[in-house]
Amino acid sequence: MKAIVVTDQAAGTAGMKLVERPEPQAAINDVVVQVHASGFTWDELTWPSTWTDRLGRDRAPVIPGQELAGVVTALGYGTRGLSVGQRVFGLADSYRGGTLAEYVAVEARNLAPLPSDVDFTVAASVAMPGLTAWQGLFEHGHLQAGQSVLVHGAAGAVGSMVTQLAREAGAYVIGTGRAAHRQTALDFGAQEFVALENDALEDAGPVDLVFDLIGGDIAKRSAGLIRAGGTLVTIAGPTEARPADGLTIDFVLVSHRAQLGEIVQRVRDGRLWTNIGNIATLDDAVAAFNPTKRISGKTIIRVRP
Ligand SMILES: NC(=O)c1ccc[n+]([C@@H]2O[C@H](COP(=O)([O-])OP(=O)(O)OC[C@H]3O[C@@H](n4cnc5c(N)ncnc54)[C@H](OP(=O)(O)O)[C@@H]3O)[C@@H](O)[C@H]2O)c1
Repeated sequence: MKAIVVTDQAAGTAGMKLVERPEPQAAINDVVVQVHASGFTWDELTWPSTWTDRLGRDRAPVIPGQELAGVVTALGYGTRGLSVGQRVFGLADSYRGGTLAEYVAVEARNLAPLPSDVDFTVAASVAMPGLTAWQGLFEHGHLQAGQSVLVHGAAGAVGSMVTQLAREAGAYVIGTGRAAHRQTALDFGAQEFVALENDALEDAGPVDLVFDLIGGDIAKRSAGLIRAGGTLVTIAGPTEARPADGLTIDFVLVSHRAQLGEIVQRVRDGRLWTNIGNIATLDDAVAAFNPTKRISGKTIIRVRP
């Protein structure tokens, strides 16, 4: 099969190559999926899990990519809940990856059925940002209707999902990001926007919940905006930032079949729009992941036409 591989972490996306690789086999509880569309988070090659297995052993050459939508072609021993020929979407385990390829082996529990009226490209784009937003807002942030949420990077892949889901849940949403992204964030439903290079972030508080994906100084300053009992949820890695009278939660998403179902239902009925910046073929994927200018939204690889 055709696959994108990386062997050198220091080379980043410039080190990606399109090569021939053996097709994967289904282990216990796996399915093999013929990939129709696949996604990749732009900084995935900096994550330790991209380069090692769970015991820390080097697993290069690596086929990156966690996000996928496709059709099940084989079941591993004991696999239940999915069938050969079924349309599915979801996320491969981050220590396994492998979705930037024509076939990938994935644990069945990490996938959900994909309704026939949702395009593979849309499904591949919504899995990672949708699950991250859902888990950050509802599992970790315990968002309630009537609360206020500050969403950093509100025009990006994750931030646009956070903005839409928080609005639907009845929250008041203040988006942040670069000044050039103001209209995009407002179009996704943010009621206010703070341009981080021009506006005073400190004027945005107090809020009940901050959803951070930038980290560093922005996370620290955001902690000071959280009202008593509120939460700083961050996906940018461990942070020292703490609200004076609240919680900080740093998490890494996990795939979740029921939540994928909730997300795809919202896509079907028009409540949730995905933020796709570019669609490329597998043959053009290396160039697509090395753009000459930063592309807003997700780059999706349409593996099968
Ligand atoms: N822990 C987890 O489970 C998890 C899950 C998913 C994603 N993530 C991480 O979350 C981060 C965001 O992912 P994404 O896919 O949403 O990326 P993305 O689509 O690039 O979105 C990030 C947004 O934030 C903006 N931004 C970033 N830094 C900024 C700054 N200093 N000032 C103003 N705006 C800034 C970006 O603007 P520009 O495009 O102009 O830079 C972009 O609009 C990544 O680091 C990713 O690895 C973590």
